[in-house]
Amino acid sequence: MSSKKETNSAWGGRFSEPTDAFVARFTASVDFDRELAAQDIRGSVAHATMLNTIGVLTDDERQAIETGLREILAEIEAGSFSWSVALEDVHMNIEAALTERIGTTGKKLHTGRSRNDQVATDIRLWLRDTIDVISGELTRLQQGILSVAERERATIMPGFTHLQTAQPVTFGHHLMAWHEMLERDHGRLQDCRKRLNQSPLGAAALAGTSYPVDREQTASLLGFDGPTRNSLDSVSDRDFAIEFCAFASLLLTHLSRASEELVLWTSAQFDFIELPDRFCTGSSIMPQKKNPDVPELVRGKTGRVNGHLIALLTLMKSQPLAYNKDNQEDKEPLFDAAETVIDCLRAFADMVPAIQAKPDNMREAARRGFSTATDLADYLVRKGIPFRDSHEIVGKSVAYGIAQNKDLSEMSLPELQQFSAAIEEDVFDVLTLQGSVTARNHIGGTAPDQVLKAVQQAKQQLKQRGG
Ligand code: ARG
Repeated sequence: MSSKKETNSAWGGRFSEPTDAFVARFTASVDFDRELAAQDIRGSVAHATMLNTIGVLTDDERQAIETGLREILAEIEAGSFSWSVALEDVHMNIEAALTERIGTTGKKLHTGRSRNDQVATDIRLWLRDTIDVISGELTRLQQGILSVAERERATIMPGFTHLQTAQPVTFGHHLMAWHEMLERDHGRLQDCRKRLNQSPLGAAALAGTSYPVDREQTASLLGFDGPTRNSLDSVSDRDFAIEFCAFASLLLTHLSRASEELVLWTSAQFDFIELPDRFCTGSSIMPQKKNPDVPELVRGKTGRVNGHLIALLTLMKSQPLAYNKDNQEDKEPLFDAAETVIDCLRAFADMVPAIQAKPDNMREAARRGFSTATDLADYLVRKGIPFRDSHEIVGKSVAYGIAQNKDLSEMSLPELQQFSAAIEEDVFDVLTLQGSVTARNHIGGTAPDQVLKAVQQAKQQLKQRGG
């Protein structure tokens, strides 16, 4: 045995030669999974505490392990810890540092545990922490939206279908539609948190462990709702990462839609809003340019996050039970999706309250597009004309308006009466933009009073969730 070359210290017992240098680098994950260091240490402290409770570690051993791990965490946080690719991943780097620091006792930490349940625990803890940060940023963005929506509850703009002027709406109402999308995203995020909050620790490599581990204890020490129920599933399940990325994709889809609208609205052609200079950039060749880079970039990042969702789905597709090394590939997409979500939410939460509406331009655009045509049709119905006929009458009025370059509200009474004798002087009440939005006064309608109610309800909801 003296001729045996030095092999991996954690698992090299049965190997007769060291790992190929490239293979060591290829299989190592420490360059990215060091992100899990704090959670890894939290999990190890809980595991050691449990091992002490069941008599596997003495009080002194447990204490030495905890103290050593806390010192290591301080070093990692200070940036002075030296990571080694030869030690493969975050788990073995920390364990090796512990043994170097406290001696043989460090080697006892891994009793009744595998890196398979360890890493599953770490990612769940990490994602739970990250979800709480994201939830806070999402709430901050929603608060910003609510404040602008309240301020702009009576500001009239054109509402669109097919990006063609459809009916007047209030800007506040439009913003409250964004709020609804984000409210569903928040629900999905909390759903994901709830389902992931179970402890895989104790599943060990795949079958459980022969030590009488107290899985309830570690679960509760780590703030989990309880232990997972099947050891094979525990080490191989990455549903929570996929669910999170699905949440992220849908959130970014919503932000990309809002971004697209911001880009349109800041264009010279719409000119509905102004974004403060600090959220825009210029052009190196065209001095007049002020580009809405922040919404554009958020719109673009949606593709990146969708890619991560597909990467994780494809990673897990057809994997046999239980743990496979493939799973190491779960981390980079998950980390990047989370970081991207946090950055995009932050950009939006900072930017949205600073949106300056241009009410005159919005109103003018609403006035130009025959946006009260439906109101005229409804008016004729109230005068006893069946809706299909009134639709036809208004269609002809609009064709006349296009030819004469006149909006419905700009036509004289005789001009309007060419199309129906039922039209009387009171028609002008419904042809005004104000009349049109105020008339839509029911739950979910665009009337300023309804927008205010919706804002108040939403504020109440955010308060209940602690926002
Ligand atoms: N670095 C590994 C991962 O991220 C940790 C688990 C390794 N387990 C194993 N049996 N090789 O998945």
